Amino acid sequence: MEKKEIESLVRKHIESKFSDRDRKEYIVAANWKMNMSAKEIRRFIGEIKEEKIPNYLKTVIFPPYPYLPIFQEMLRYDRIIYGAQDVAKEEQGAYTGEVSAAMLADCGCSYTLVGHSERRGYYAETPGIVAKKAAAALRYHIKPVICIGETLEDRQNNRYRDVLKIQLDAVRQEIGDVLSECVIAYEPVWAIGTGVIPELVQIEETHHFIHELLVSYTGISERASKILYGGSVNEKNVKDIAAVHFVDGFLIGGASLKAGSFINILRLLNVDGR
Ligand code: PGA
Repeated sequence: MEKKEIESLVRKHIESKFSDRDRKEYIVAANWKMNMSAKEIRRFIGEIKEEKIPNYLKTVIFPPYPYLPIFQEMLRYDRIIYGAQDVAKEEQGAYTGEVSAAMLADCGCSYTLVGHSERRGYYAETPGIVAKKAAAALRYHIKPVICIGETLEDRQNNRYRDVLKIQLDAVRQEIGDVLSECVIAYEPVWAIGTGVIPELVQIEETHHFIHELLVSYTGISERASKILYGGSVNEKNVKDIAAVHFVDGFLIGGASLKAGSFINILRLLNVDGR
């Protein structure tokens, strides 16, 4: 099949996905990494609270740890939810600098990222460590967003499927079928912060591969599986990527730091508001 034909097919798919009365939930998540100040965050939350976001667009913000109480204060009864960028694999004790899942639950977090490629790369987090972090979060009813992704070298050597499988296998070994309750964020390392995104057909093929892995592990249905795409998502490309089959939302870094651009992304995905 021609690339164009595939793209038009996936576009049709997303249209039907969004025109469905009983729409599948779509997750739009902001990963702020080590950015923002208390003042900027208060302004950001003030702006986004004004936005009418449809029910099927689940908005999740991942600020740095010290700012979680601002979210707890300003978003207590709001539909916008928040979480942490990481969590300790240990329960409690002498682990200087770590933050436990119980503490995140205390701060009202319902989600946490685990295994972001910056954690895997800069802080030597192995698939086993990431798996233990996911398990720690789940013990406190915090949904882990398990980030997986291959390097450019793995992609070029056609090893990306093996790498993704190793990353997911470790989590499955740790938590078994509960993997079906987690969110997966596919973030090719070479697309993060680079302005380069994979071709849409590559995104489709890789998300399909991840979905099939989840099906083989847990028997999850297509409707229940949640696989986000992350890496250089912005206002210009978000609609095209949203049209890709098996893309159930986004994890957005740079383009989520300004309320204006993050809100625009939400508007672009809001089919009711068109
Ligand atoms: P980016 O980051 O959108 O700035 O590429 C995404 C991420 O690292 O989660």
